[in-house]
Amino acid sequence: VILSQDELKKIAAYKAVEFVESGMVVGLGTGSTAKHAVARIGELLKLGKLKNIVGIPTSTITHEQAVSLGIPLSDLNTHSILDLAIDGADEVDREMNLVKGRGGSLLREKMVEAACKKFIVIVDESKLVSHLGGSGLAMPVEIVPFCWEFTLKRLEMLFIEAGCVGKLRRTVGGEPYVTDNGNYIIDLYFKSDMGDLKAASDAILRLAGVVEHGMFLDMATTVIVAGKLGVSVTNK
Ligand code: A5P
Repeated sequence: VILSQDELKKIAAYKAVEFVESGMVVGLGTGSTAKHAVARIGELLKLGKLKNIVGIPTSTITHEQAVSLGIPLSDLNTHSILDLAIDGADEVDREMNLVKGRGGSLLREKMVEAACKKFIVIVDESKLVSHLGGSGLAMPVEIVPFCWEFTLKRLEMLFIEAGCVGKLRRTVGGEPYVTDNGNYIIDLYFKSDMGDLKAASDAILRLAGVVEHGMFLDMATTVIVAGKLGVSVTNK
């Protein structure tokens, strides 16, 4: 049997939900992989196999999905420490550093996942990379809308040696894409390595106008990868 990419995502998601126990406060991720985990948690609650779960959603879309499944929800104001979060990623390197946010929810994801005792990342094997940002795909940065062209240029200048090109994310209709927090997203593309990740992260965050970026460094505690040869669980 050849499994589709979506089936692999589901396998990783279901494996992660095995770590959810009754009574836990659980961060609910966003995206096509995380949505399988949220669905599974809803199903186990309905079956009575899980009880007293409190979900903390990482986006309005996940909030809506969880409400439709009857998962009790709360927020970081009420639950400032979470037992566990489960979420997908766009890229995962060998040190379990991540790129997230191609779905646009990086800021709420980072706020929730930074408050978790355990953060389980669920991916199919296509997300594994040797260098973050090296796959030619976007590294998203959430910025305030005010003078976004200026911020875009400042971001490109930070990584001029890596041949960085920034693009304002737009909707299919051509309007700027607006995040759940009313901000814009600049997608950064690199021709060569962006260098030391911590230094890159610090430099981006120092720019006034930047709200957050999609590199999640040293946050994941477990990575679950589903591939053609099976599913692997790696702990930090
Ligand atoms: C949402 O903004 C993202 O951070 C997602 O977690 C990430 O893009 C992975 O999404 P998929 O599971 O849909 O690939």
